[in-house]
Amino acid sequence: MSSSPMEASPTGEAMECPTIGVFDSGVGGLTVARAMLEALPGIRLLYLADTAHVPYGGRPLSQVQDFALQIIDFLFVQGAEAVIMGCNMSAASGAHTVAESRYDQPIFELIGPGSQAALAATRNGRIGIMATQGTVNSGAYGRTLASLGEAEVLEQACPAFVPLVEQGRSDGPEVEEAIACALTPLRDAGVDTAVFGCTHYPFLRESIRQFLGEDVTLVDPAEHVVQRVKRHFASRLAACPASASAHRFFCSGDPESLRREGERFLGLPLMQVEHVDVPVENCGIIV
Ligand code: DGL
Repeated sequence: MSSSPMEASPTGEAMECPTIGVFDSGVGGLTVARAMLEALPGIRLLYLADTAHVPYGGRPLSQVQDFALQIIDFLFVQGAEAVIMGCNMSAASGAHTVAESRYDQPIFELIGPGSQAALAATRNGRIGIMATQGTVNSGAYGRTLASLGEAEVLEQACPAFVPLVEQGRSDGPEVEEAIACALTPLRDAGVDTAVFGCTHYPFLRESIRQFLGEDVTLVDPAEHVVQRVKRHFASRLAACPASASAHRFFCSGDPESLRREGERFLGLPLMQVEHVDVPVENCGIIV
């Protein structure tokens, strides 16, 4: 593996560009990785897709928290200096709160920045959350929004979306039918702002936009979390070259969807996707 890009610090010491870990159940977190690489060129990305367990959406939150904690641990062992949980369900499970008590390094989650951006965007005070069943059941978006401001919040589970995205489908009759089936209640309720409460859903952005209409503002929490990461690493990022870094990609299951969507969506050749095990029974080890 080649080394990460280095620049001289103002004191003349070599200063590495930040290495940032991002993870998700599958390809969804690539929407976060792309937002990060666009906003913070020069960072080194460690991406893990837990494809052995995708979709997370119908799993118990305790199990998703267990997966997330194992993965966060693995990313820190691999040299991440910060982790962005590119998975709303991990945030809904409270994994970041547990991890923050274990590590000194920062852990960023999506529900806070997404909620703040939605409150800033809404004009009629009616916000729709498009999310997995697990995130909807947790009520995490509703609680976070209520703690930040006043809005009428409609949370809508969209269980058909993740399997479609993992198959590489972002438009066509089946996608349109799944969108109409899931999002009609949000359209009928007159929300003027809809949040991608699952990182897979921005892959369906154009089809969702067509269904909800141009007047509905689509909020992608990824764009807002990267601003927080940018502020955190501001001085080091200022010294980073914008050249491609030695990113690494890990996968617990079939690497094909990650390789395909990584190359297409990130525009990066994913020559090597390294295999990792994320055990269901937490024995605290990823091999
Ligand atoms: N992309 C993830 C999220 O943001 C998980 C989707 C899934 O695996 O169901 O919640």
